[in-house]
Amino acid sequence: MASKVKTIGVLTSGGDAPGMNAAIRAVVRKAIDNGLSVKGIKRGYQGLLNEEIIDLERHSVSDLSQRGGTMLGTARCMEFKTEEGQKKAADICRKHKIDGIIVIGGDGSYRGALALSHHGINTIGIPGTIDLDIACTDYTIGFDTACNTAMEAIDKVRDTSSSHERCSIVEVMGRHAGYIALWCGLATGADDILIPEKYDFNEQNIIDNIVRNRKRGHTHHIIVNAEGIGHSTSMAKRIEAATGVETRATILGYMQRGGSPTCKDRFYAAIMGCYAADIIAEGKTNRAVAYRNGEFTDFDFEEALSMEKSISEYQFRMSQIL
Ligand code: ADP
Ligand code: F6P
Repeated sequence: MASKVKTIGVLTSGGDAPGMNAAIRAVVRKAIDNGLSVKGIKRGYQGLLNEEIIDLERHSVSDLSQRGGTMLGTARCMEFKTEEGQKKAADICRKHKIDGIIVIGGDGSYRGALALSHHGINTIGIPGTIDLDIACTDYTIGFDTACNTAMEAIDKVRDTSSSHERCSIVEVMGRHAGYIALWCGLATGADDILIPEKYDFNEQNIIDNIVRNRKRGHTHHIIVNAEGIGHSTSMAKRIEAATGVETRATILGYMQRGGSPTCKDRFYAAIMGCYAADIIAEGKTNRAVAYRNGEFTDFDFEEALSMEKSISEYQFRMSQIL
């Protein structure tokens, strides 16, 4: 290890995601294995500005992989979006002799990490968000657990929908992205899957679909609606009025961010955490850890944030056909 890095910080930022704890554990243990000292920064960038900084040892992260949420806490921080906030945060890092920070979070947290790097602090990003909306990576920690939670909930809604012969609109999270809706819609055999990337706001198509399915003897109609489209409750009222089919909306909300992470999320979190601890020890600077084309890799932050992500045309078309 030729690099001068001695002490690193780790923080979680933005929306929490199942598997963040497993990532923290891996960062801490692998960094210590690499001869580094590790400081935990509580409550994301807000905690950094408040100097909420603790020492982390190997034992500090025992019994953590299976726990949802984040032991460090997380926050959204407006002050950090300002130039002064970023400068203050960089000065605090220098004061605490933190040579680099590993940021576990989503797209916004990555933008924050890039901003901090412009003030002379090395930053490494680990993709932690249920939304799967970070362009440089095919996988983000938390997505699998969130999808499984939402999928089970939709299966349950289908049972009661059948019993009552209702139409159900189930709204899933994802901010501006439709990945959770697409995956869960396909996995549960939803009759309509509405995602912001593709939706044309033509409710008549949905109404026609419901009427057609009723004529074929279907006892329920499940619509998976992405948060990026939203308005599920008013949509339910309009659909009921147009079809005469009793229609209910269920907004799954924060349950999708909670709970014990799946094996897949724990595994990716562990490997990405180790990978981040390795590249920071090697002296790499300002990198976004990613899983792409079947391999763990890393990208320059600027490059990572300039990439664009889009829903696969093929996957979307198949979700419509099935
Ligand atoms: P996520 O990381 O889950 O996408 P947010 O978009 O809320 O969540 O971002 C988390 C935090 O990252 C924000 O509260 C803010 O402190 C910081 N952040 C977001 N965007 C920027 C930006 N453009 N510049 C600096 N900091 C940012
Ligand atoms: O990024 C994760 C996420 O749960 C999004 O799916 C959602 O749009 C957002 O966070 C909600 O954020 P908040 O916790 O601020 O309500």
